[in-house]
Amino acid sequence: METIRQPRVMREIAIKEKKNGKSIGFVPTMGALHEGHMSLVRTARAENDIVVASIFVNPTQFSPGEDFACYPRSLSDDLEKLEGLADFVFLPEKENMYPPDFSTRVEVEGLSENMCGRFRPGHFRGVATVVLKLFNMVQPSRAYFGQKDYQQSAVIKKLVRDLDLTLEVLVCPTVRESDGLALSSRNSYLQPEERNAAPALYRALQSGAKALKDGQRDAGLVGGIMRQSLSEEPLVRQVQYIAAFDADTLEELEIIKKNSVVLAGAVIVGTTRLIDNLLVNDLK
Ligand code: PAJ
Repeated sequence: METIRQPRVMREIAIKEKKNGKSIGFVPTMGALHEGHMSLVRTARAENDIVVASIFVNPTQFSPGEDFACYPRSLSDDLEKLEGLADFVFLPEKENMYPPDFSTRVEVEGLSENMCGRFRPGHFRGVATVVLKLFNMVQPSRAYFGQKDYQQSAVIKKLVRDLDLTLEVLVCPTVRESDGLALSSRNSYLQPEERNAAPALYRALQSGAKALKDGQRDAGLVGGIMRQSLSEEPLVRQVQYIAAFDADTLEELEIIKKNSVVLAGAVIVGTTRLIDNLLVNDLK
């Protein structure tokens, strides 16, 4: 496994590999790697000749007052986890990603605005911009994202379609702890009692999914069931949103008519923001 810091070097290697007919599977991350990330890397390994993982805590996707400065960083553990699975670990530096005169931003309108977009202004602009840059540097044949960040994967798929990029975007299932909590680098912020409370979000989404499967089609009532479920956990300090959304447009639904719906929520437990979602398919 080789570590690369220079975007120019990364791109030269990628172009050479592609010229030799090799497919490149790419997993972009911000590090503090856990099983969720590793499941993406393993899928990339199984489906491609070459695997590149990147680790870059991208400052432009954090709003002022968010956790950029204290975001968990564990490079040597991360490299150990990737050893034997990735061929290249790309570790670009901030100065190379964003030189002082950097002034271009990628805005995926529509999909970026609802859900988390309402609470994290500019977040998806930061994500879309850095992911497009990373795609240009790594030249992937396939890029792997987690369903955990459903809106992010929708934004990236749209970016690829709208800008005629030639790679394939694959979305892999959310990896959870045994009590249902979705793995996240930010789970390390949770105090022990907060960690016990955190699966409340998954339970709430499950209660919504059950209502849908039982035939409930009034999305307002489904939302009410999920909020009621969350209200049973006092350590959930704030519910930013929890509702049913169109799985394609991400618009909040009133009456559920389509057979594919995403139930998604964002809550604050203690001081930690948690997100999760469930895709409910095959509704009759
Ligand atoms: P990060 O939060 O490190 O996540 C990297 C990838 O891992 C994302 O595609 C995310 O959806 C996926 N992931 C995280 N938790 C997961 C879980 N429990 N199960 C499955 N996949 C999971 O997302 C980012 O970084 C950044 O926004 C990035 C795309 C790297 C751009 O900076």
